[in-house]
Amino acid sequence: MIKPDGVQRNLVGEIIQRFETKGFTLVGLKMMQVSRELAEKHYAVHKERPFFPSLVDFITSSPVVAMVWQGDGVIASARKIIGATNPLNAEPGTIRGDFGISFGRNLIHGSDGPCTATDEVSLWFSDAELADWTPAI
Ligand code: CMP
Repeated sequence: MIKPDGVQRNLVGEIIQRFETKGFTLVGLKMMQVSRELAEKHYAVHKERPFFPSLVDFITSSPVVAMVWQGDGVIASARKIIGATNPLNAEPGTIRGDFGISFGRNLIHGSDGPCTATDEVSLWFSDAELADWTPAI
């Protein structure tokens, strides 16, 4: 999910390009204004953390771009492409390392494992919103 700061900074195309040029397949894509209900479900694991209210405020503050990418090893690879949660610790060449400096404004969220990815895809997308296709090359 490209967060509000990624959209506001005109980084949507840049971020999508990094996943496309790596070779992953885009199977879901939508721009949306996130409801508090969706934000609270998405970040439920953090609900006892002090930053939870501001995180929900931020994610619901302006539109995000939700995406589903498919391909061999996509979850682990996406985490490398995205970089460390704190952009100040993220390596150059990663999305957060190249474009971010703030913990709370780290541009993009990526699923952290297969179970989370399954849950998050079904939380954010209906079956009808997901394309079932395989690149010919
Ligand atoms: P994300 O990958 O979306 O998952 C949870 C988010 O919480 C994380 O990226 C950060 O944006 C945010 N987050 C985690 N820790 C902190 C913190 N200490 N202060 C503010 N935001 C945080």
